[in-house]
Amino acid sequence: MAQLLRVQNFNVSGDGYGAGAAEEQSLENPFGLPNASDLFSWAGATASWPMRTDPGGSRGLDDYFTRDFARNIGAEIMGRNKFGPLRGPWENEEWRGWWGKEPPFHTPVFVMTHHKRPSFTLSDTTFHFVGGDPAEVLAQAREAARGKDVRLGGGVTTIRQFLDADLVDTMHVAVSPQIRYGSGVRLWESPDELRDRFHLEVVPSSSGVMHHLFWRR
Ligand SMILES: NC(=O)c1ccc[n+]([C@@H]2O[C@H](COP(=O)([O-])OP(=O)(O)OC[C@H]3O[C@@H](n4cnc5c(N)ncnc54)[C@H](OP(=O)(O)O)[C@@H]3O)[C@@H](O)[C@H]2O)c1
Repeated sequence: MAQLLRVQNFNVSGDGYGAGAAEEQSLENPFGLPNASDLFSWAGATASWPMRTDPGGSRGLDDYFTRDFARNIGAEIMGRNKFGPLRGPWENEEWRGWWGKEPPFHTPVFVMTHHKRPSFTLSDTTFHFVGGDPAEVLAQAREAARGKDVRLGGGVTTIRQFLDADLVDTMHVAVSPQIRYGSGVRLWESPDELRDRFHLEVVPSSSGVMHHLFWRR
């Protein structure tokens, strides 16, 4: 079986934004967007949401995508701005990501940055800090994934680089049509831009989210 590079559960507004501009992202407002949690509320409402504290939750289509996030994933690649709000050279190694002592990845995670720092492990997630072109980073992640797929975790800047290098195999993007930001980092002006390279199926969910599924032509 080929080892796929998969985007899973990436969330964008109806006008294609996945976060505010890098300078708007901060400790207080990680996404740099007003009411950013509205983009994710469909996932938080599902029974399988990993951070769920109370019983219950939906078990329909949205829950299927929540479960698919981790299926057959052996490593993740993410951009440094997803890893945290700090920019430039690391002043120290105190920042260890947003996710506390039990990050929800449970695999090696390759954080792309021009500013190296030593790897570290929290529970069953090890974070490595890597530079290089997307193909080189993907080769490292594939090796670490030991035959499983690699998830491309975002943000937009990182996903765009891998799309430009034509390395993405499948992509699940949840679009919230009623939300419009007008500025920030934009995945696309229209998903139709990717149709020359990808098949696209759009599946509406009862939560109002439109699940966009892309796979290579
Ligand atoms: N909508 C969603 O579902 C979703 C999902 C995940 C994250 N997010 C949000 O997205 C935002 C982050 O996205 P973003 O587009 O601003 O940034 P990003 O893709 O997370 O990170 C960009 C940074 O990664 C590093 N980088 C990227 N390519 C590199 C390369 N080839 N070599 C070396 N370093 C490289 C650079 O950091 P250096 O400056 O260190 O070199 C660059 O500034 C955050 O607000 C996060 O919360 C949204």
